[in-house]
Amino acid sequence: MAYIELRQVTKRFGEVTAVDRLDLDIAQGECVAMLGPSGCGKTTTLRMVAGFEDLDDGEIRVGDKLLSSRRGKYYLPPEQRNFGMVFQAFAVWPHLSVFENVAFPLRVRKLPKAEIIARTEEALKHTNLLSAARGSPDDLSGGGKQRVALARALAIRPDVMLLDEPLSSLDPHFREEMRFEIKDLQRRFGFSILYVTHDQSEAMALSDRILVMRTGVVQQIGTPLEVYGSPANRFVFEFIGLSCFLQAGLSPSGMSIDGTPYDWPGGLLPPAEILASGTGLLAARPTEIDFVSAGGVRGVVMRKAYLGETIDYRIAVGQTEVRVQKTRRLPGPGVGDHCGLNFSLPHGYPLG
Ligand SMILES: Nc1ncnc2c1ncn2[C@@H]1O[C@H](COP(=O)(O)OP(=O)(O)OP(=O)(O)O)[C@@H](O)[C@H]1O
Ligand SMILES: [Mg+2]
Repeated sequence: MAYIELRQVTKRFGEVTAVDRLDLDIAQGECVAMLGPSGCGKTTTLRMVAGFEDLDDGEIRVGDKLLSSRRGKYYLPPEQRNFGMVFQAFAVWPHLSVFENVAFPLRVRKLPKAEIIARTEEALKHTNLLSAARGSPDDLSGGGKQRVALARALAIRPDVMLLDEPLSSLDPHFREEMRFEIKDLQRRFGFSILYVTHDQSEAMALSDRILVMRTGVVQQIGTPLEVYGSPANRFVFEFIGLSCFLQAGLSPSGMSIDGTPYDWPGGLLPPAEILASGTGLLAARPTEIDFVSAGGVRGVVMRKAYLGETIDYRIAVGQTEVRVQKTRRLPGPGVGDHCGLNFSLPHGYPLG
C-alpha cells in the first residue's frame, strides 16, 4: 500500500502551472527522486508535501491521514506533519551550538527534557557529530553543516524525509560520501525519502524510483534502470545519460539517412504512427553504438578523445555528428577513417 499518496496535485502561480495534476505513490521506506531541469516544479512539489504551500487542486495523504486537500479545504500545518526536511542552503543557526541546532525542533514540540537529550544525542551519534556537539556549526565544513541539518531532521524521528538538493553545495567528494550516509540512515530508521535533485547520477545512486518532470508535468516514473533503459519519450532519453539522435527517413522496408538507405537497426521497427509520418529520430546511447567492419550506418571519424577508460569518438554521419564511446581496450578507427556503426539498442521517437 502506498504510504504517501499525491493525487492530481496541482499548483499555479498566476499564469504558470508549476505542478500539473501530479500522481505519485511512495511506499514506506522507499526513496523516490524527483529529477528535472530548473523550474520544472520540484521544489514546489516538496513544499506542498511539507505543508508550506497550499494546493490548487488534488490531495496529499500519508498512511490513512489526510494532509492537504483542496476540495476538502483542509491543511495540516507543517509542524503537525512528522516530516524531516533538509534544503540546499544549510539552515543552521551559528549562534546556537551544534547540539542546540539539532535539539531545536524537539524543544518546539515541547518534548520532555530527558527525551530531548536522548533523541538529540542519538541523531548526533548517527551523523558522526557527537564530538562537535558543544561547538558552533560555523566551525564545521560545508559537509559538517549539512550533517547538522540532517541530524536535526533525524531527531524528530520522521516518517518521511523531504530533501531538496541537500548535497548540491558540497564538493563532489563529500557529495558521494553523504549519499551513502543518507542511504545508511534510511536503512537504519526506515523512513521514506522524497529527494529533489537535478543531478541524475545522484538520483540513480540513491533512489528506488525516479520521477522525471518537465514544466510541471510528469514524464515518467520508474526504477533507475527503467528510465535509463526504456525512456518514455525523447525528453527523458536526452535528460538521463548521454544520447545522440539521427534524423531518418522512414518507410516500411527500412530507413534512410541523408539519402542513403539502410536496414532497420537491431530489430527496431517504429510504431505505426511514426512510420506514417515518414520521418523520425533514431536515438542511441554513445556506449550502445558499435563499430562494424561491414555494413552499418556509414560515417567518418572527425575526432577521437581519450577519457581514461573510454575513448570518445565524434563521427560525421551525413550532416549529423554522432557520439560513440568505447573502451580503450577495443581497437577502434582513427581520425579520418570511414567506419560502419551498428546501433545495438536503438530507440525511435517522432520528430519535434
Ligand atoms: N512563490 C512563487 N511565486 C511565483 N512563481 C513561483 C513561485 N515559486 C515557484 N514559482 C514558479 O514555479 C515554477 C516551478 O518552480 P520550482 O521552484 O518548483 O522549480 P524547481 O524544479 O525546484 O527548479 P530548480 O531546479 O531551479 O530549483 C517556476 O516557473 C517558478 O518560477
Ligand atoms: Mg528547486
